[in-house]
Amino acid sequence: MRVAPVDRRLFGAFVEHLGRCVYDGLYEPGHPSADADGFRSDVVELVRELGVSTIRYPGGNFVSGYRWEDGVGPRELRPRRLDLAWHSLETNEVGLHEFASWTELVGAELMLAVNLGTEGIRSALSLLEYANHPAGTTLADSRRANGAEQPFGIRMWCLGNEMDGPWQLGHMTADQYGSLAARTASAMRMFDPGLELVVCGSSHASMPTFGEWERIVLEHCYPHVDHISLHAYYQERNHDLGSFLASAVQLESFIEAVAATVKHVKHRLREDRTIGLSFDEWNVWYLDEFEASGRVTDGWPRAPRLLEDVYTVADAVVVGSLLIALLKHSDHVRAASLAQLVNVIAPIMTEPGGPAWRQTTFLPFATTSRLAGGNVLLPAVTSPSYETALYGDVAAIDAVATHDTETGDTAVFLVNREQQPCTLTIDLRDLGAARLLEASTLADDDPYAQNTLQQQTRVSLRPNGSASLSGGTLTLTLPPISWSACLVVTPERASP
Ligand code: AHR
Repeated sequence: MRVAPVDRRLFGAFVEHLGRCVYDGLYEPGHPSADADGFRSDVVELVRELGVSTIRYPGGNFVSGYRWEDGVGPRELRPRRLDLAWHSLETNEVGLHEFASWTELVGAELMLAVNLGTEGIRSALSLLEYANHPAGTTLADSRRANGAEQPFGIRMWCLGNEMDGPWQLGHMTADQYGSLAARTASAMRMFDPGLELVVCGSSHASMPTFGEWERIVLEHCYPHVDHISLHAYYQERNHDLGSFLASAVQLESFIEAVAATVKHVKHRLREDRTIGLSFDEWNVWYLDEFEASGRVTDGWPRAPRLLEDVYTVADAVVVGSLLIALLKHSDHVRAASLAQLVNVIAPIMTEPGGPAWRQTTFLPFATTSRLAGGNVLLPAVTSPSYETALYGDVAAIDAVATHDTETGDTAVFLVNREQQPCTLTIDLRDLGAARLLEASTLADDDPYAQNTLQQQTRVSLRPNGSASLSGGTLTLTLPPISWSACLVVTPERASP
């Protein structure tokens, strides 16, 4: 069954001024690979390889205390501020201009968040005019004087961040936020009706206000916005690997619940447009460990080591399966951002003055972004199941395919959540499949194996030697706890 065209925006990421994501991460002026602007070229290369489409910036919780004006103008005059969200020092060495250049360098689209926690409509409008107005006003001309003659042309804007969370600076009730977001959105649209605006949904599906928050906020905002956000982080708890590997079950029901609320409000308000879902924070995050550490650092350090989770094979299999779930729901999910990109719960790690390397989670993301194209197809999967503590009976195998009618390429993405191998066949006859070009698998005898500073390539994607294509039928064996991707092509593409 065809779901929707593959939207490149599903392969977005998130960069927050948090820990070492920006400072001592993508930006490290003294590093041997740094360019004239202080950006590490080794990180740029890895971000390109990851295949990231959009980058949400600058937060996250950080944005709710951020004054965007601090980050523009001569660097030596920029203020140093306390970042209350992460108990850190913000030096403002990197701001809008630097980050816009960096997104251009990595070939991604910038998705900008405005502060609706401690700022409001006026600050959002000033930022919009500063960033997007060509010339002839004080704000636009100050951007030009600061080195950007051309407007940044930012299309996608987030109306605050996680405003339902008590931890958020300036957090609000659904009514308060819905009203502020609606007024901010309609004011921003007076500047440019073509902007794409994302309103905040719940911080996660277990928030006590989840469901009602979406309904109330959308009743205020529906006509003024294009997307509602979803955030979700997963972790293995209580040594329950089986439930953790099935995290996509929760992600799917979360998407379906928000999509149902969108539909409900759409019909109640007699609206024609269906707004989309922006899953603009998702990942594996060992949040319990972070909470147990007391959340804050000692003092107010610049670029402290925060949220530097080191990912395992199992974590990467979960990330791969979450990508499968996002693709399966791409009729609703129009944008998504892996949170985050560098050092902070990230696919890319760096050492100051040292190397940059791929975490295990880098591998399924980069491969899916590279191979998915055309339309998303939902295969009919027959799979054994296994019992989980959190989600009951869960299918061991999950899969999604994409097919590009122009090139004829078909990509299949598969996860085996069970602790035993599974051999399966996939009928691709209707898609003109003639040659297997690629079959690779992420698996390891040790599901907790990691890539670390000392062993940067301990875990990698390996060719799956069991895969074969015969008469349009693909056969392969999926090892226990594994994620795999295959690319099959038509006779035309196969011929030299
Ligand atoms: O990604 C880390 C944090 O998680 C973000 O700042 C916040 O939006 C979410 O709670």
